[in-house]
Amino acid sequence: MAESFTLSPRGLALASQPSFRAFATPVLQNLYDRTNSPNGNINMGAAENYPMLQSVADFTNSRVKATPNSFSYDEGAWGSLRLRAAMARHMNRFFEPVEEIKPDDLLVANGCMSLCEMLGFSIFSPGHGILLSRPCYSAFESDFGTRAGVKCVYASFNSEDQFSPNGAVKGYEQALEQAESEGTKIRALLLCHPHNPLGQCYPAETLIELMRFCNQRGIHLISDEIYALSTYEINDPNAAPTVPFRSILTIPNIVSHIDPALLHVLYGMSKDLAAGGLRIGTFYTRNSELWRCLSAMNQFHWVPGPADAIATAMLEDEAWIDGFIAQSRQKLGETSALAREMLREKGIPFWEGSRAGFFLWVDLRAWLVKMGKQDPWAAERAINDAFAKAGVYLTSGESMRAEEAGWFRIVTSFDEETLKRGMGRVFKALGI
Ligand SMILES: Cc1ncc(COP(=O)(O)O)c(C=O)c1O
Repeated sequence: MAESFTLSPRGLALASQPSFRAFATPVLQNLYDRTNSPNGNINMGAAENYPMLQSVADFTNSRVKATPNSFSYDEGAWGSLRLRAAMARHMNRFFEPVEEIKPDDLLVANGCMSLCEMLGFSIFSPGHGILLSRPCYSAFESDFGTRAGVKCVYASFNSEDQFSPNGAVKGYEQALEQAESEGTKIRALLLCHPHNPLGQCYPAETLIELMRFCNQRGIHLISDEIYALSTYEINDPNAAPTVPFRSILTIPNIVSHIDPALLHVLYGMSKDLAAGGLRIGTFYTRNSELWRCLSAMNQFHWVPGPADAIATAMLEDEAWIDGFIAQSRQKLGETSALAREMLREKGIPFWEGSRAGFFLWVDLRAWLVKMGKQDPWAAERAINDAFAKAGVYLTSGESMRAEEAGWFRIVTSFDEETLKRGMGRVFKALGI
């Protein structure tokens, strides 16, 4: 093994892995701006609620007053009581859980990413596995893997519906059996509900079956509900009916399905409240041991005082929040509809069931053969390179562990001009 004069072996391992920073910096430091940088890159990979960012900035500029306490250590690393009380009220109002969420049921840290990292450290030993669905939000791999050494184990569903009770359990069960037969102990299942990148919600029956499955296997069930309120409607009379979002905490009599010590919910302000830069993530658990464990690490994932003050002000202003969420949903529906129309015009299929999140899961399998490569994943990479050359960035199916090559996640939550221009670059790269 290589050695370093300056680093420990684990430091060297981190320094030697492919650097996302090295890849992302040239892209992110030359971003598209209609007036100042029209030839810059359009980042249709990062899932942000772009149309709503201005409202958050306006609210902060006009309504938030910093106090001396905002710049002190104040109440400590766990998120102020006011923030946790406001977040608990927000979740009670919108999630309508069977059992009321109390401020002390919530841990607050600088983003769900950090919470996943802390969970990786708390629930798993290095080499243990976490079950995830294919396709999957790609950053879980680094959130759980980079420092905690947790292995992501992906369930395939083949032609089964992963949102149906049987399809879901079958897929996760097979993945668990396979991993454990190869020596990887599974400790948890993480469900993206609504799903990223498919934009679909799980019906209550599936949530119940997954709770039972996790309980039987003695593994944790973490429901990542970060897109809970980013649901929208599509004005299409031919569209199949879709399942509305319902938090896992609304299932009656949870104790009859799962030991409450195994059930947890992630939520945050990065998506529904268009504040990814605020770095506010929250974790609901009734597991007091896990709560104490995460609390012991919280000082390494402290929410800064000014961010705590802004988040508290936003959440406490319920009238503003109501208007904001309604407007966000409206815009998500509009931008998604526009993107769907543009894709249909070009004959590009996409996952029709999406009604949540900021993206569409787009099927470019027909373009693979045009890339002149034997290996379909190499062909997918060639399409990705063509996008980069055209100044547009999408998330590839390979990075989202898709079951099959040729799929891409495309973020649609932009203003109309940027969305049209970005889609134009996508079509140009595809030669259409
Ligand atoms: C499903 C999911 N979970 C967690 C995160 C991370 O959120 P945060 O900004 O709170 O770290 C994201 C961000 O894209 C996400 O899509």
